[in-house]
This record gives sequence, C-alpha cells and structure tokens, in this order.
Amino acid sequence: MKAISSQPRPRTLLTRDEIAAAVNRLAAEINRDYRGKQPILIGVLKGSFMFMADLIRRLDFPLQLDFIRLSSYGRGRQSSGRIKVVQGLRCEVKGRDVLVIEDIVDSGLTIAFLLDYLGKKKPASLKLCALTDKPWRRQTPVTIDYLGFTVPDKFLVGYGLDCDEQFRHLPDICVLEE
Ligand code: IMP
Ligand code: MG
Repeated sequence: MKAISSQPRPRTLLTRDEIAAAVNRLAAEINRDYRGKQPILIGVLKGSFMFMADLIRRLDFPLQLDFIRLSSYGRGRQSSGRIKVVQGLRCEVKGRDVLVIEDIVDSGLTIAFLLDYLGKKKPASLKLCALTDKPWRRQTPVTIDYLGFTVPDKFLVGYGLDCDEQFRHLPDICVLEE
C-alpha cells in the first residue's frame, strides 16, 4: 500500500512507563500536601481526562471532581488567545481547596484565564497540577505547583492530547512529525 507521506506521524517522546512514574511522583506530593483536606479537583477538558483518571486512583484522601471546558485553540496548533468557558462547573468553589488538573501549559493564557476565573470565586486555596510544561513561548507568568515534565517546544499528542481531535487515545506522549 502506498504511504501517505504528508500525514504527520507520532514519534514517542515520553513512554507510558515514564508517564506512570511521573504520575506516581505527583500523587505522592499531592497526598502529602492535601492530607486531612477534602479538595475539589477540577480537570480541564478534554486534554486532561487520561491524566486525571490515572492521578486520582493514586490519591488517598477524600476528594470531589468537576470538569471545565475552555476554548482557546479551536482547530489546529495555535492558541487564539481568546479564551472562554464552553462548559462550566457544577460545584461550589467558594471556601474549598481547589486543585486544577491540566494537560499542558504553553503560552499560559488558558490556565492564567482559568486561575483568575476560579480565584474570583474565592476558594480557600487554589493550586495547579500540570502534566507537561512548554515554557518556551510563555506570554504570561504561571506558577505550576505540581509538574510532571518540562517538554520541548514541539506539538505533542497522545495521553489525552490531540491535534484536531486525533491521537488522544495513544498511551504514550508523542511528537507529531511532518
Ligand atoms: P496555552 O493557552 O497556550 O497555554 O495552551 C494551553 C492549551 O492548549 C492546553 O490546555 C492544551 O489543551 C493545548 N495545547 C498546548 N500545546 C499543546 C500541544 O503541544 N499539544 C496539544 N495540545 C496543546
Ligand atoms: Mg487543555
């Protein structure tokens, strides 16, 4: 069969074992810091769903979950910088310990918007756990309290991350090669 050469191909950057080790490390840090608390973990859809599912199974304190969906990229690989809430929260955030679970921080615009949005709801505490960080093109400062990996300035897919809704199901984190 003839290969379609223009189709981008995923090349493994972080294996499922490396991801699992990072998830274990993050869970240990979070277990230590949230002992005796009952936080709400807020997953940023859709990219964080796989990370969230793996992480929470390693947490040993009582917790609640909620999800929020933001739009920033639309189609393709560039952030539009115009962020809005597409699917809002159901839970009451006021007075609660809130931990946001994100797949990747790139320009920082999405997560800065979300942390500001949540901060206005007056949580007792507000922290960020991100699986990956691409600090190379940051447009606004972001503090990541729990970080899995700093990754190269490449477009990544797999383990929840997509390119035009493709590749989310891949168990490894991959770089898309042209
Ligand atoms: P930011 O607003 O530029 O920080 O982009 C953050 C959002 O864009 C993340 O929540 C991801 O959903 C998406 N994103 C950024 N970089 C990548 C990537 O390399 N692959 C897939 N999605 C990405
Ligand atoms: Mg995202």
